Amino acid sequence: MTATDTPTAGATTRTAFRVPTHLPVIITIDGPAGTGKSTVARLLAHRLGLDFLDTGAMYRCAAAIMIDRGIDPEDVGELVSTVIGADLHFDWQTDPPMILAWDAPMDHRIRQPDVTAAVSKVAAIGELRNHMVRKQRVIAAQHPRLVTEGRDQGSVVFPDAEVKFYLDADPGIRAQRRDEQLREGGVEIDLETLKQQILERDRLDSTRADGPLICPDNAIRVDTSSIDLDGVVDLLEKHVRQRIGALVGGSGG
Ligand code: DC
Repeated sequence: MTATDTPTAGATTRTAFRVPTHLPVIITIDGPAGTGKSTVARLLAHRLGLDFLDTGAMYRCAAAIMIDRGIDPEDVGELVSTVIGADLHFDWQTDPPMILAWDAPMDHRIRQPDVTAAVSKVAAIGELRNHMVRKQRVIAAQHPRLVTEGRDQGSVVFPDAEVKFYLDADPGIRAQRRDEQLREGGVEIDLETLKQQILERDRLDSTRADGPLICPDNAIRVDTSSIDLDGVVDLLEKHVRQRIGALVGGSGG
């Protein structure tokens, strides 16, 4: 998979399998950064006719709020109460849904390098995670046909999800993908440095006490190192077809 793959690639080229409209279905996709999770989750949601939730955007928003409001990272109480007051929510009319804080769009802000550098530490705050988990469950109650991606979606937030995936890829490949993305934005960082940053983020995400990055029980594990974007979405769609087909009592094929 490469950063040059467009988010809509493949979405229009095949006959979509739609999840029966009467059926609530939660599909979780977890895994580390650089596995293509976000794009895959969004394309899969398109193909299946489901909504798409990017939970990383919520943690990124909290990190942006901390930086922009000058909140001391050690002052957990202040940070959590400010984030609660920001009433993070998504505009479901846009694709992908745009995240807002205090009703102001945050999409432009949350992918900036200072936010990316700060977010793992913010995401390790247990009180903040409790708030996000509650919010994600409320979102799922309002959007019960959902593909949701993050680090803890299948393990903590939706342990009873109908289908769970865990995407992984070789760290060297993930660094290359990140390099391609950054170059498109005119940024050059040495590949080894990128790989070390990725490994450090993995370490922080997988060793925290609350909602660590793990492969959830019963998740289907997919290594995306040598499969292109379309191939990964095809594979996930096939698994969903089988599972949902079994749930509704048909072949699903
Ligand atoms: O997927 P991403 O790079 O946008 O995620 C940003 C950060 O948020 C990353 O450090 C992992 C963290 N995160 C998390 O802890 N739990 C989630 N459900 C989603 C993201």
